[in-house]
This record gives sequence, structure tokens and C-alpha cells, in this order.
Amino acid sequence: SVPMTILGIESSCDDTAAAVVRGVPSNAHVLSNVVFGQTDAHAAFGGVVPEIAARAHAEKIDLAIEGALSQAGLGLDKIDAIAVTAGPGLVGGVLSGVMCAKGLSAATGLPLIGVNHLAGHALTPQLTDGIAFPYVMLLVSGGHCQFLLVQGHDDYTRLGGTIDDAPGEAFDKTARILALPQPGGPSVERHAKAGNDRAFALPRPLLNRDDCNMSFSGLKTAILRARDDVIDQHGGLPSSIRSDLCASFQAAVRDVLVAKSRKAMAAARALTPEIRSFAVAGGVAANGTIRSALEAFCAETDTTFVAPPLSLCTDNAAMIAYAGLIRLQHGQIDDMSLTARPRWPL
Ligand code: KG4
Ligand code: ZN
Repeated sequence: SVPMTILGIESSCDDTAAAVVRGVPSNAHVLSNVVFGQTDAHAAFGGVVPEIAARAHAEKIDLAIEGALSQAGLGLDKIDAIAVTAGPGLVGGVLSGVMCAKGLSAATGLPLIGVNHLAGHALTPQLTDGIAFPYVMLLVSGGHCQFLLVQGHDDYTRLGGTIDDAPGEAFDKTARILALPQPGGPSVERHAKAGNDRAFALPRPLLNRDDCNMSFSGLKTAILRARDDVIDQHGGLPSSIRSDLCASFQAAVRDVLVAKSRKAMAAARALTPEIRSFAVAGGVAANGTIRSALEAFCAETDTTFVAPPLSLCTDNAAMIAYAGLIRLQHGQIDDMSLTARPRWPL
């Protein structure tokens, strides 16, 4: 097939992003990847505030697109199609992106391609590592936690996922409980390095169940209770004990993710025996302890482990442009009736 150049736009959560990807599905390159985060705007509220997110997207989206085009050294005249996240996500943010993409498409006559955000994550290992279908993807971030069996660009089977909080959310809440800065993942990981991960016996829910479902909300409650016990005993939270709590918490998340990854691979193998690869994506995949445990599990089961670089692992528009490139090659183009879908299961 002919190489194509795609402009991608992403605004479904708390990152406003645009990127340019060029190539064919089996060999594509990221020419630019611009992400404007909103962490500071939401920091005071302890979570993403939809109204603030929607306004920030509307304010930054043109800038992100101009940045992506100029970093790629291309004008819109060199673009072949516009791909945009059409869901799932916060509807105000998704709408900002979809309206903007429709406007660009109407003004230039370029094809418009709506992309499912989760498909963007799920196809990233092909962009970064060229691994072939089928593979299992563990998507772990502040908002997502699920296992997907990916057998084609339009063929996803959800094998299981969290029944309550996402692990990133649990890291963030744990950091808040222990008075550590946000985002919680990196600060909990940093403090865990000095701690004993067996100091506290924290729950590993649903481990005795045979499915790939997970639960992380009980962990947060357990951390809260453990912290209060420590404060009762010591009149405060000594920093060495705080490190122990971080390490014990991180070990519990790691154990659940590894045990359920094992079950997910088994479930995938039952559906498609030739499965040989396991990929991770999402902010939590940045965690060294979790990443090496997953890597070790793969090595031990003769499974190829793929972890895209962090810039393509967390929310970005290059994954949307790449998913758009694949859809374009399959003639899957949308028209002006494209709508923002807050819920859109794969
Ligand atoms: O993929 P991402 O940037 O955004 C979405 O949630 O969509 O993921 C952010 C999440 C946050 O909850 C953050 O605390 C977590 O990923 N995170 C980590 C680490 N770095 C980021 N969790 C554990 N360990 C880390 N090193
Ligand atoms: Zn995401």
C-alpha cells in the first residue's frame, strides 16, 4: 500500500494532544507528538474535573495541532487524512477534538476518521515494535485497567478488567493518604525503593478466582487503616514506615497484575492457541517493579514482552494517528455525522 501521512487529535481525558504519523501499517513513523497535560489545572481538586478539562482542551487544541504540524515540518496540504478520538472519554473533551477535526476536514476536504481511544492504545505495540496479531494487551493507567485479546485492528476481546478502581487511581489515592505529591505513581514508587514490601500484609483481592477480573479499591481502604494504626502507635507517620507502606502497596498491585496476566494469557490461549506476545500500555506501565515482574512472567512462559516507550504508552495522539492510518488503508472513513461517544466498548 501507499505511504500516507495522518494528523491525529486526542482530547478524551486530561491531555490535549496532536501528532503526525507517516507510513504504512507495517512500517509507520511518528513525525511529531505534542501533548499538553492538565495536571496543574486539576491538582487542587484531587481528580479530573470535566468542565475544567473541556475548557482546557478547547483552549489548547489549535496550539497542539499547529505544534504537531510544525514539528513535522509539514503544512496541512501534505496531510492525507485527519484521525480523531471519538470516544470513550469525557464527552466535553471528546467533542472539542471531534468538532476541531470536522472543521479541518470541511475546510480542506481531507477524509475524517473517528478512532476509539482504546484501539489507539491497543494498536501501539504494532507501531513501536511491529509485533503481529494476535497479542494480549494489559492497559493500566489512571483511568483504564483491562486485558484485551487483540486479533485484528477491528477485532478485540475483553478478557477482564478492574471491577472498581484502576491501579493508577489506587497509586494516586495512596499517595494522597500518605501525604505524597501527585501524580501518585512516581512518588509512591520513589518512596517504595527505601521500604520493606513485606512490612504490611495488604489484600490481594480476587486472586483465588479463575477469571481475569481485578479489584483495587480495597487496597486503598487497607492503606488508610494501616496509616491510622501507625499514627495511633507512633503519634505520626515516620518516614521509614511510610516507605514500608508504599513498598507493600506496590507489591500488592504487582502481585495482582502478574497473577491476572497469567490468567489472561491462559484465557487468550484457549481462544487462539498461537498467542505468543504480551504488551502493556498506560502510565502504570512506567513502574519499574511492575514492569520487571511482568517481564519476568513473560520470560518464564516463553512469551514476547512488549512495552512501548512511555511517550507512546500514556495518552497521546500518535496512537490515534496510527489507528487512523490503519482504518484509512481499510477504507474505513467517517463523514460529518461522526459523533462523540462517552461510552464506546471495543
Ligand atoms: O496513562 P496515563 O498517563 O493517563 C491516564 O490515566 O489515562 O496514566 C496516569 C496514571 C496516574 O494514575 C499515575 O499515578 C500512574 O499512571 N503512574 C504510575 C507511575 N507513573 C505514572 N503508577 C505507578 N508507577 C509509576 N511510576
Ligand atoms: Zn488512555
